[in-house]
Amino acid sequence: MKHLLRGRNIYLIGMMGCGKSSTGHPLAKALGYRYVDADSVLEELLGKSIEQIFDEEGEESFRSMEAQILQSIGERHSLIVSTGGGVVTRSENWGILHQGIVVWLDVELGKLWLRLQEDSVHRPLLKAIHSEADLERFLNQRKCFYSEADLSIQIRDEGPEEVVSKILKALPSLITDPLDPGEQQTTAT
Ligand code: S3P
Repeated sequence: MKHLLRGRNIYLIGMMGCGKSSTGHPLAKALGYRYVDADSVLEELLGKSIEQIFDEEGEESFRSMEAQILQSIGERHSLIVSTGGGVVTRSENWGILHQGIVVWLDVELGKLWLRLQEDSVHRPLLKAIHSEADLERFLNQRKCFYSEADLSIQIRDEGPEEVVSKILKALPSLITDPLDPGEQQTTAT
């Protein structure tokens, strides 16, 4: 599999709490890739948490820095990249994402709501989400972006290892031979 990827990065996209980090680590291990969390890179660089960056600099400034981090990650190869849930909303980011393979972890709404309530990570945008219906509205605004992924993995009760297996199973159909025309878009259920 690794030789077929030819060093192309794999970008995990999806809503907050969809399991990008918990999937990214085992996926990197399975492929002999390195794992990078784009938000953590920004946090380390600025010495501030994402929450502090939002509070002190505002969302627009965060989005610009997020785009710069993505650009520098895009200059490297053989990475599994966990992206922040909103990276998809800036069109300039797609130029970089599509140089790699983009995988959407599409967690069913009810599950996502439960996970976010149990999660201890502080996420600034969650301050405006008080119910499952709020989350649904938010998700609906994002879906059109996430569905641009090369591969969508639909997740209900599967744990990270099962999600990784689904991704590994679907990847070959996305990687075309250089002599083959056009790449595919795939949904794995
Ligand atoms: C955001 C998701 C967060 C983080 C920031 C904004 C979003 O990352 O980038 O709080 O806009 O959905 P995770 O998806 O890793 O929680």
